[in-house]
Amino acid sequence: MLRTHTCAELRKTNINEMVELCGWTQANRDHGGIIFIDLRDRYGLTQIVFDPKHNKETHSVAEKLRREDVIKIKGKVRLRGKGLENKNLSTGEIEVLVDNVEVFNKSDVPPLEITDRTVSNEDLRLKYRYLDLRRPEMQKNILLRHKTAQVIRAYLNKNNFIEIETPMLAKSTPEGARDYLVPSRVNMGKFYALPQSPQLYKQILMISGFDRYYQIVKCMRDEDLRADRQPEFTQIDLEMSFIEEGDIFNLIEALLKKIWKEVLNMNIKTPFPRLTYKEAMDKYGTDRPDTRFGLELADVNDLVKSSGYNVFEDIVKKGGTVKCINVKDSKFSRKEIDDFIEFVRIYDAKGLSWMRMTSSGLESNIVKYFNKKTLDAIIKKTKAKSNDLLLFVGDHKHFIVNDALSNLRIHIAKKLNLISNDKFNFVWVVDFPLLEFDENEQRHVAVHHPFTSPKKEDIKYLEKDPVKVRAKAYDVVLNGTELGGGSIRIHNPELQEKVFKSIGLTKKEAKEKFGFLLSAFRYGAPPHGGLALGFDRMCAILTGNDSIREVIAFPKTKNAESLMVGSPSEVSDKQLKELHIKLDFIKKKHKEENSSAFDNIKKLLEKNQVKFETMHHSPVYTSEEAARVRKTKLRQGAKALIFKTDDEYIMAVISAEKKIDNSKLKELVKAKNIKLASADEVKKITGLEIGAIPPFANLFDLKLYVDISLSKIQVIAFNAGSHTDSIKMGYGDYKRLLNPVVGDFGK
Ligand code: AMO
Repeated sequence: MLRTHTCAELRKTNINEMVELCGWTQANRDHGGIIFIDLRDRYGLTQIVFDPKHNKETHSVAEKLRREDVIKIKGKVRLRGKGLENKNLSTGEIEVLVDNVEVFNKSDVPPLEITDRTVSNEDLRLKYRYLDLRRPEMQKNILLRHKTAQVIRAYLNKNNFIEIETPMLAKSTPEGARDYLVPSRVNMGKFYALPQSPQLYKQILMISGFDRYYQIVKCMRDEDLRADRQPEFTQIDLEMSFIEEGDIFNLIEALLKKIWKEVLNMNIKTPFPRLTYKEAMDKYGTDRPDTRFGLELADVNDLVKSSGYNVFEDIVKKGGTVKCINVKDSKFSRKEIDDFIEFVRIYDAKGLSWMRMTSSGLESNIVKYFNKKTLDAIIKKTKAKSNDLLLFVGDHKHFIVNDALSNLRIHIAKKLNLISNDKFNFVWVVDFPLLEFDENEQRHVAVHHPFTSPKKEDIKYLEKDPVKVRAKAYDVVLNGTELGGGSIRIHNPELQEKVFKSIGLTKKEAKEKFGFLLSAFRYGAPPHGGLALGFDRMCAILTGNDSIREVIAFPKTKNAESLMVGSPSEVSDKQLKELHIKLDFIKKKHKEENSSAFDNIKKLLEKNQVKFETMHHSPVYTSEEAARVRKTKLRQGAKALIFKTDDEYIMAVISAEKKIDNSKLKELVKAKNIKLASADEVKKITGLEIGAIPPFANLFDLKLYVDISLSKIQVIAFNAGSHTDSIKMGYGDYKRLLNPVVGDFGK
C-alpha cells in the first residue's frame, strides 16, 4: 500500500504518528511562507502543511504544486493551532506536517472546478466526465447508486431470487422502441438486436423452473431522449412463478420500503394506494400521476352538453371531452392566464377557457353564453368558492384534453410551489388496457407487450371490442415518474395466439418473431409474472435530481453521443468490409468540411454581414417548445421539412404556425408525386435529426421552396442543426442569401 490512511481518517488520537497519505491537491494557500494544501481522495480532505523552516526541500516542491496534481506525502500528525479547527471536516482538528513529498503526476489546468458548485455547461461536464466525477456531489451520487444496488441484491437474495445473466447479443424483443442492431460477421447479412429488456429470457427462465429470477441489467432502446430517458439504462428486472398480481405488489412495496429506509433512513408507508388506469386518466389526465398535490381534473361533459355554449356543446356532440381544473384561491392575472393559453397550445389544445368565481357567481368573457343551470352545476361539481379559477380544455380527441390539462396541472403546481420535494408519493396504477389503436399503423398494438395477460373477465371482448379488454398490467409510479412496470403473463398458447391475432400478427409472423418462446410454452409453462424498475430513475429520485444523467457514471448526451470517448464514431473501411456493410448516405458539405451545420450557417451569415442572434437552450422537439424557450412567437419559427419528389429531395420551409398542403406544394414543384421524407431519409441526406434541420437548403444541396406565410414575418428563428441551438435573423436577409422559390403551399 502506498498510504497508511485515507484523507478522511486522521483524528486527534493520531497526534504524533508518522503517516503516509495519497491524493489530489485541492486548495493551495500560502500563509506567510507556510503552504497549506487540502489533500483530497474519495473519502475526504486532510490539511497538509509545508513549512520551509521544517523542510526547505519539500516546501519548494509544494510551491510548484497546482490544482489536481497527484501526490504522496509522509509526515507527522499534529493539532491545528487554536481557533484554526474546521468543524465541517471530519479531519478538521488535525493537520499533517510534511517531511517528504512525491509527485506522481502533474495535472494540466482542469477545465472544470472540482467543487460542489454546479457546473452549468453539461457538455463540458460530459466531455471531461473523469473530472466531473471527482466532484463530491457526483461521488455521492455514484456511491448512493452502489449502496442502493447492494440493498436490492441483499433483499432479493434473501427472498430466494437467483441472479441470472441474459445475453446482450439478442433478438428483437417486444418493448416497442427501436432496436440497436449489431451486424454479425460470421452470419453475413444478419443482425443481433441489443435487448430492450430481458423480457423473453426471463419468461423462458420461468419455464426452465428457476421460479424467482432477478438481474440488475443494462437495456438498450433507440428512442428520443429526455431527462429521464437514456439509450442504455439499467433495470432491476425480476420474474416469479406461481404468483398473482398481489404477490408482486407486496414484494415491490417491501423492497422499496427497505431501500428508502436503508438509503435515506425514511419510512415509507405501505401498502401503496392503487388507482385504476381509468381513475388515473380521469383524475390526473395521465397514467403516471403526481399525487403530491391536488388540482385534479373534473369531467364536465354532462354539464356542458346543453349549456348554451356552442363550442363545448359541439365537442360533446362529436364524442369529445371537456375537462376542468379548479385552481383554488387563485391570484393569477389575465397575463398569466394568457400564458396558460399559450402553454396548452404546446399540447395541441386549441384553446383554454376560464371562469373566475366571485361573490356574485362565475365571471369571464364566456359566462354570458352559459345558462344558469349549467353554471350552478359547474360550481357544484368543481366545488368552486370565491376567488377560485376554473380552467377548461375541450377537444374532440380525449388524449389532447388529458395531455394539455395534465401538463398544465404540473405547470401550475410548480408556479404555486405546491410540490413538496421531501414527499415520496408512491402509487400503483393497475388495470391498464391490453391494447390500443395505433392511428399511424392503423391496427391495435399492445400497450405493455404482447405477452401480457388479459383479465379473465374481459377475454370475451378480445375479438369484437379489443380496446375494452383490461390487462393484468401494473406500473409503480413515484411523484409523477413511472418507476417501474410489469404484468402477469399469458402462459396458455391458445390465449397467446388470440392476442397475437388481435394485434394483427399472423401465425407465421409470430413464429418468426417469438417462435422460441412459443415453442418453450408447449413444454409446460408455469403461471408467471414480473416487473422491472428503472434503476436510474430510482437513483435520480433518491438523490433529488431531475436528470438520470446525474446518477449514471458515463451517460450519453441528448443526441445519444458520448462526448468523452467520442462515440458513436465512424469505422474503418476494413471493418465495414468484414461485416459486408456498405454505407449508403451522401456525405454532406458540413461533414466533409468537418464542421457543424451551426458553424457553417454562422460563417455564411458573418461573411455576408448579416445581423443574427444565436441561442443555446434546453432541447426542443416541437415548434411550440422552441417558441417557448426562444421567447418568440410560434409564427416566427421557420420550419424546414424535406420532401421526396419524383426524382429528387427538396426542402420546403413554412411558418411553424402553418401546415404544408402537399397538393399545393406538388403543384408548385411541378412533380407527379410528393411525399414527406422519413426520419431515416432525412438523417441520410442531412446528417441531422428531424426537428433540427435549419432552413438552409444550400448546406444539403437541396432546392428550396418557401411558403408566403414566412415572407410576412420580419424576424425568423430556427433550430440550427441541433435541438439545443437556434438562430434568429431577419427574413429579408434570409431571402437575399438563399434565393428560394416563394409560393403559397400552406394551410
Ligand atoms: P418497461 O418498458 O416499462 O418494462 O420498463 C421498465 C422501467 O424501465 C425504465 N425505463 C427507462 N429508464 C431510463 N431510460 C429509458 N429509456 C427507459 N425506458 C424504460 C422505466 C420503466 O418503468 N420488460 C418489461 C418489464 C416487465 O414486464 O416485467 C419492461 O421493460 O422506469
